[in-house]
Amino acid sequence: MRIDIVTIFPEAFTPLELSILGRARAAGIVDIHIHNLRDFTTDRHRTVDDYPYGGGAGMVMKPEPFFAAVEAILREARTERPRIILTTPQGRLFNQAIARELASCDHLILLCGHYEGVDERVALGLATDEISIGDYVLTGGELAAMVIVDAVVRLIPGVVGEEESVRQDSFSEGLLDYPHYTRPPEFRGMRVPEVLLSGHHEAIRRWRRKEALRRTLLRRPDLLNRANLTEEDRRFLEEIRRELAEDT
Ligand code: ADE
Repeated sequence: MRIDIVTIFPEAFTPLELSILGRARAAGIVDIHIHNLRDFTTDRHRTVDDYPYGGGAGMVMKPEPFFAAVEAILREARTERPRIILTTPQGRLFNQAIARELASCDHLILLCGHYEGVDERVALGLATDEISIGDYVLTGGELAAMVIVDAVVRLIPGVVGEEESVRQDSFSEGLLDYPHYTRPPEFRGMRVPEVLLSGHHEAIRRWRRKEALRRTLLRRPDLLNRANLTEEDRRFLEEIRRELAEDT
């Protein structure tokens, strides 16, 4: 996969050189290019923003440098139909399903917004997607772009060591993950659940599934309505509800 990021802060993207993403780049699984938006301006001051039509506070990012940057990227990459993503609090709310959808693309271009916003013609005439990473406002789109790239790249086959660990993640089946433990078996009075020490694979599988359901029910009941639940899951949920009723 090729990923291009257009930003006024290219130096903000060092986290994409580290750890799993750094290794994926070194292995040639993902080819990430960072572009300085100011390189696509035509004036002496390399201006990327201007006053808003209609007045009001703050500055608006000009459309021309974004269009010029994307056109230059497309000339070089020669990919067909890349996804061109504008990061903005007004966008579609990012989630694991969108990450999966983007992970199947061969070329993503991310445009990082700033200031009060980006001239609407970038959304209308250039971007294929507008994405928000949450209902809060960041100072710029750089962190949002890195969140999207990180969540997408780890889903590309070969990036995370064990495919199984990606498949079992929180959200991959619409549920939160089960609790994880490692040694020691007892730490500051907190014991690892006995079943995990038993070596009984089927009992461990059932315990994990039930605890994933318990967490989802308690922390994110909204996810349960959309999850694909089996007959066994429904029985576990019945048990959990009964256990909770007994505790109160
Ligand atoms: N830019 C500023 N806030 C943002 C958010 N929540 N998501 C995406 N881009 C943003």
